[in-house]
Amino acid sequence: ARSGSAPRRCSNMKTLFFIGFMGVGKTSVSAALGRMLKLPVIEMDQQIARNEGMTIPEIFAQKGEGHFRQCETALLEGLAAESTCLVSCGGGVAMRQENVAAMRRCGTVVLLTARPEVILDRVKDSDERPLLQGKKNVADIAALMAQRRGAYEAAADVTVDTSDLTIEEVCRAVLRQVNET
Ligand code: S3P
Repeated sequence: ARSGSAPRRCSNMKTLFFIGFMGVGKTSVSAALGRMLKLPVIEMDQQIARNEGMTIPEIFAQKGEGHFRQCETALLEGLAAESTCLVSCGGGVAMRQENVAAMRRCGTVVLLTARPEVILDRVKDSDERPLLQGKKNVADIAALMAQRRGAYEAAADVTVDTSDLTIEEVCRAVLRQVNET
């Protein structure tokens, strides 16, 4: 045991980047953890929508996915210089190697996962995700997840399956694992 054996506080914690597929709980978990740890939370989609003055579906429709991906990379580069915070990444952020390098340089990458059935249940009533339009079924979601799985796993320092946990349980599991890294 460490000398003094006081539980490790989070003041020396690095920025946490939450990655993973749409609907795994990145936004909810980072918001709850931000309240628990009194750390600022940056929701990338929300920040990009604010910067661009449009919703995510509008950005995809009017400026294209390529433009959106450039916004993500530019935002991440800026965040890398920020003091400790929690960053809820869009589901596609870990698909670009330069994004992964930026996150790993200054922070800890937390991969959240969930079973496709659970994801479907969480995303089925939302129209905010252009990539899921017409694909709100288990087979299509599982196929897209399978394409992305390798990149997510390669980027992650720690992984938590959120399928059967409450938001609070996920927060505790994340902290436990991050403190072990
Ligand atoms: C995307 C995920 C979305 C959003 C955009 C693209 C993706 O974010 O960035 O619709 O490529 O997986 P959430 O994961 O927060 O839904």
